[in-house]
Amino acid sequence: FLFIFSSILVKVAAYKATLFSQLTGESKKILELGVGTGPNFKYYASAADINVIGVDPNKKMEKYAQAAAVAAGLPLSNFSFMRGVGEVLPVGDDTMDAVIGTLVLCSTKDIDMALREVKRVLKPGGLYLFIEHVAARDGSLLRFVQSILDPLQQFVSDGCHLTRETGKLISETGFSSVDLNTAFLSSAAVLGPHVYGTARK
Ligand SMILES: C[S@@+](CC[C@H](N)C(=O)[O-])C[C@H]1O[C@@H](n2cnc3c(N)ncnc32)[C@H](O)[C@@H]1O
Repeated sequence: FLFIFSSILVKVAAYKATLFSQLTGESKKILELGVGTGPNFKYYASAADINVIGVDPNKKMEKYAQAAAVAAGLPLSNFSFMRGVGEVLPVGDDTMDAVIGTLVLCSTKDIDMALREVKRVLKPGGLYLFIEHVAARDGSLLRFVQSILDPLQQFVSDGCHLTRETGKLISETGFSSVDLNTAFLSSAAVLGPHVYGTARK
């Protein structure tokens, strides 16, 4: 699994730079959902005057995320790691200019709740930027294999689901606009189908 996941990160990097260029200088207050070790900071955290809140249930990620923030040029005074989950974000309504979530909605216990939270915390007009691996096309062989492997994947990869129709769920959350793209990372096997893009509150 680690090999496949590393391969995904390399491939995802190819379109991450384009995606993150949509975070303009107006995005000053940013929340990153499932921040993990902070692999996204290098794409956006050197911007001037930004404040970033990284939310993750795994406290062990904090020191790695802090190191990645500093390496990307984000002073620690402008970064807070908050232990928490996407289903109950620890910030108020309409407070964030942008929410970022990459490869995280597969792991949330309640994806609808997490998406409602993303929308709740964004300011009107705020930007949600996402990259997620998703279920393959319904009826395809890959989808069948994903459904067989899903219970094992949840067990070995800390609750990660293979068969979520995350793009559809993002579109149904009630954002004012959604720009949804699909990609297939052929070397990533059951984790190959991806959606990425942005949504505006
Ligand atoms: C596969 S890693 C992705 C990390 C990083 N975002 C990236 O793109 O590499 C998933 C992360 O989501 C976190 N996570 C798991 N369940 C979560 C939840 N309910 N809410 C927020 N984050 C969660 C995990 O602790 C982990 O750091």
